[in-house]
Formats: sequence, structure tokens, C-alpha cells
Amino acid sequence: MAHSLEILIDKISGLNEIEALRLLAGEFPNEIVFSSSFSWEDQAITHMILSNQIPVEIFTLDTGRLFSETYYVWSRTNEIYNTKIKPYYPQNQPLEGYVKENGPNAFYESVDLRKQCCFIRKVEPLNRALQGKKIWVTGLRAEHSPDRHNLQQLEWDDSHQLYKYHPLLHWTTDQVKNFIAENHIPYNTLHDKGFVSIGCAPCTRAIKEGEDFRAGRWWWEDDSKKECGLHVH
Ligand code: ADX
Ligand code: SF4
Repeated sequence: MAHSLEILIDKISGLNEIEALRLLAGEFPNEIVFSSSFSWEDQAITHMILSNQIPVEIFTLDTGRLFSETYYVWSRTNEIYNTKIKPYYPQNQPLEGYVKENGPNAFYESVDLRKQCCFIRKVEPLNRALQGKKIWVTGLRAEHSPDRHNLQQLEWDDSHQLYKYHPLLHWTTDQVKNFIAENHIPYNTLHDKGFVSIGCAPCTRAIKEGEDFRAGRWWWEDDSKKECGLHVH
């Protein structure tokens, strides 16, 4: 490891999110990427990157099953920031084979079929997006799940062999909302309808007041299985 984790943590300590992103982009030119799902956390980070011209490539994993509201935010973001967010798509052969064999909605039938779908549509494209990269910026927030409370803002990801940086890890929902409003950032209108964590349309629903933030994802499964494999802790 050319950069030690402790040294990097030391370098960004005391910096705000924008300064830290700029510093990390300087430490890892062309090797730093940000994954956006167009959630409002991700939109806040996109704004920080693009309005400050920080050289971090932004990509999204288009599973083909996203909400139309999500595609709308994506195109508005390209337009407003005069940018071109890079999409990664599932490979056609495994996807065609899986859907032919199991049908288009097999994720409701078993955890195993759901995980296969997530692997084909998200995990494999993510692995391609991270190929050759040294640092991966995400919009993860601790409030989203108990697992995420244990994360460090800057950490080593053994499974992908790179650093992960979560600039908004300790932000509250109100902080995110205020940042979006103050900066007039385009956001997914599903957030106004009770959607907290937004993934694929068939696998995401709104939550009720007081429900766990992850309750709207894969709601038909046991709590312990509710991760798609993007973030392995
Ligand atoms: S997931 O693991 O449940 O799918 P979640 O929706 O909470 O993830 O999002 C956490 C972070 O993972 C986002 O802030 C973003 O960095 C990344 N992410 C999730 N889904 C996508 C996607 N479709 N494309 C790109 N990045 C994504
Ligand atoms: Fe497939 Fe649902 Fe996973 Fe999206 S979230 S990749 S539709 S199983």
C-alpha cells in the first residue's frame, strides 16, 4: 500500500467534506471514483464534486429496473451541471440467461434468486467500475442501518482492495435535506413520498413514520439478508 490508511486519515482530519474530497483527488489522480444512485446523499456529493471542479469520476450502476423518477434526476443532473455521468450496465448474456430461466420478477421467489439478480445487475458491473481504482467514494450514512454505524469515514475495503470514503457518514437526514434545499440541488421526488433508501423499483417501497430506514428495501425478506452485495462489511 503506497498510502497508509493512518496517514490518509490524519491528512483529512479537520477538513470539511469538500476539502477532503479535493485532497483525496490530489492523492489519487484518475484513481478515485464516486458511485451515485441519485439518492439525495449522492446528489449532495455530486454537487460538492461538480460545483467545485474536483476531479472525481462519477458513475452509476443502471440495473435496468430503476424508477422513472431516478432516470429523471440523472438527466437533470447531466443538464444542470453540464456533465455526463458514466453508466455501467449488466452483461447481456448472463442477464438474458437469468431472466429467460427465472422470469422477470424472480427476486420475489427466493433470497438466492434475488441475490443472483443483484449480482448480475449491480455487483458485477460495480467490480468493472472499480477496476484499477484506488479509492471509492460513496453516499453511505450511518443512520441507514445498524451495520453502517460501525463504518469509518475512510476505511480499507479488503474485498475490492481499495479505500472507501463516505463523506456524509455522520450527517443526519435533516443536514442532507437542508444542504439540498440551500444549494438548489435536483433530487429524487420519491424522497418526498416516504422513500428513504432508493434502489430498484420492484425492490423498494416507501416506509412509514418510525419504521427502520432499510424497511423499504427487499421488505419481503428477513432483516439479516437485506444487503445486495455492493457494500460488504
Ligand atoms: S445498497 O447497498 O442498499 O444498494 P444504498 O442504496 O444504501 O446501497 O446506497 C449506498 C451507496 O451505495 C450510495 O450512496 C452509492 O454510493 C452506492 N450505490 C447504491 N446503488 C447504486 C447504484 N445503482 N449505482 C451507483 N452507486 C450505487
Ligand atoms: Fe434485481 Fe431487485 Fe437487486 Fe435490483 S434490487 S438488482 S431488481 S433483485
